[in-house]
Amino acid sequence: MKAVRLLEYGGQLVFDDVPTPTIARDEVLVQIKSTAVNHLDLVEASGTARQILPIDLPWIPGHEFSGVVEQIGRDVAAFAPGDAVFGTTTGMGAYAEYLAVKAAAIARKPSNLSFEEAASVPVAAQTAWEGLFTHGHLEKGQTILIHGGAGAVGAYAVRLASHAGATVIATASGDDEAYLKSIGASRVIDYREAQFEKVLREKVDVVFDLVGGDTQKRSFLVLKEGGYLVSAVQPVSQEDAARHLVSGMMMRLTPSADMLGRIARLLEDGTIRTDVATVYALQDVAQAWKHMAWNLPGVHRVSPSEPGTPHRKHGKIVLRVA
Ligand SMILES: NC(=O)c1ccc[n+]([C@@H]2O[C@H](COP(=O)([O-])OP(=O)(O)OC[C@H]3O[C@@H](n4cnc5c(N)ncnc54)[C@H](OP(=O)(O)O)[C@@H]3O)[C@@H](O)[C@H]2O)c1
Repeated sequence: MKAVRLLEYGGQLVFDDVPTPTIARDEVLVQIKSTAVNHLDLVEASGTARQILPIDLPWIPGHEFSGVVEQIGRDVAAFAPGDAVFGTTTGMGAYAEYLAVKAAAIARKPSNLSFEEAASVPVAAQTAWEGLFTHGHLEKGQTILIHGGAGAVGAYAVRLASHAGATVIATASGDDEAYLKSIGASRVIDYREAQFEKVLREKVDVVFDLVGGDTQKRSFLVLKEGGYLVSAVQPVSQEDAARHLVSGMMMRLTPSADMLGRIARLLEDGTIRTDVATVYALQDVAQAWKHMAWNLPGVHRVSPSEPGTPHRKHGKIVLRVA
């Protein structure tokens, strides 16, 4: 099969012929239709975080996908060949024509979504779900502040929190205000113009941090006693959390078929939707990574000011495989 591989840390991505994977008893073989690009792919490939995010080289990137089940392992009862599915990877990467994946990490693709749209869902939507409900304990009637609300994860967080009956405040660029209000935010604070802790009049129950740094530190000032600060980007100071009488934690996505299935139902009944920023063919992965790196200066030797880099749109960058 064809796959995109990285041969050395920081090296070029190559479009290669590799053996089609074989499956274990609890796995399915999926013919990939689309996969999506995540920040994590570029960080892992750069080697800058190899102590905590090691990869085995040569390496096939890709943490999420949509596709069609080609073959099932002996212990798999939930899926049959021909089923359209989507999910997160459990071993090898998804920038390939075929993927061996644990059946426990996938769900049926919502019928109203294209394969390209479906590939944009699993990482961002499950990260938002887990951040809000598993770690943030968000409930109807509460108020949540979402930092980075217009990003791929943030937009799901806004949609899911609003659907759950919470009041949603988001920090974002001012240009994103109309978009965020259209998906459920009641207030948008332009992070380039205002310090959120200076303009917020009331304290919030939950902060979901998709930005980190100083933004995370200042978040303690706006949390109610007993509130939750959940970060998807960096560890939260336990000393600061104790001093402000709140709980603070960094999450790392633990995907599950059950969570993805619930998200699939919300997509299928139109309660939430997904955004795809741009679709590239798998062979054009280098261009797709350049596009992603525009927001990640310094990673994988791509300069943010390089000419020809496309402007940012909402949603994920998707790679069309078949
Ligand atoms: N822990 C996990 O399991 C997990 C899972 C998935 C993702 N993540 C991480 O979560 C983060 C967000 O991911 P994503 O895919 O949503 O990224 P993304 O699509 O690139 O979105 C980032 C958003 O943050 C905004 N932003 C930048 N600086 C900001 C600031 N100071 N205040 C408010 N907003 C700001 C950006 O707006 P502008 O472009 O207008 O500046 C952009 O809309 C990434 O760091 C990613 O690696 C973690």
